[in-house]
Amino acid sequence: MGEEQRSGGRTASPGPPGPAAQSGHPDRDRWNARYGGGFVPSFDPHRLVVQALSLGLPDGPVADLACGPSGSALLAASTGREVTAVDVSDVALRLLGQEATRLGLTDMITLVEADLTSWRPPEKSFSLVLCTGYWDRELFPPAAQAVIPGGLLGWEAFTDAARRVRPRLCADWSLSPGEPASVLPPGFEVLAELDLPDDENGDKRRLLARRGTD
Ligand SMILES: C[S@@+](CC[C@H](N)C(=O)[O-])C[C@H]1O[C@@H](n2cnc3c(N)ncnc32)[C@H](O)[C@@H]1O
Repeated sequence: MGEEQRSGGRTASPGPPGPAAQSGHPDRDRWNARYGGGFVPSFDPHRLVVQALSLGLPDGPVADLACGPSGSALLAASTGREVTAVDVSDVALRLLGQEATRLGLTDMITLVEADLTSWRPPEKSFSLVLCTGYWDRELFPPAAQAVIPGGLLGWEAFTDAARRVRPRLCADWSLSPGEPASVLPPGFEVLAELDLPDDENGDKRRLLARRGTD
């Protein structure tokens, strides 16, 4: 798909409709419907970003993949980090951009409307790459390679077991046993790996790993 990049403050600016305005991408349509209407984002940061920021990061920007209306991106930006926030949903990005503007963080957050089944981050570019609530086996290795030496990779997604209570969650979107640690590229040290059982909403697994400095 196409890709549109804009800074947080320009989300509402007039101009020709980008790929966001087109319908027909199943993920975008589904998530736009979820985030549209009466959805009220909490803008709470994910625990992983809180943990990552507390551990100490090398200088450099943060990437938040499949960000949604992300409190994690806002928190990282509020600490003075530039953030690249990527999502296929233009509605999510608009919500995030509006909140960034409200908080005076417009210049710190770049919103990238892109399909993560094909969009890839540049190698060795981010002190923290974060992805929560999304899993794609093809994305994970390049996302890990986007971490700079000494930086962190944080990931959380549903496991295969979650499919018991989420029958529409297909195998490609859930973590198999051992993943994602088992598919980390060489040179990463696992700092934390946590199984998060949840009979009601579906089990998840969380990973935090640091890239060695070679
Ligand atoms: C469960 S939400 C997670 C949002 C946020 N990271 C969080 O933890 O709250 C999944 C996100 O993935 C995005 N998404 C789904 N399919 C995508 C795709 N193919 N490319 C990019 N983003 C996608 C959705 O728009 C949605 O914002």
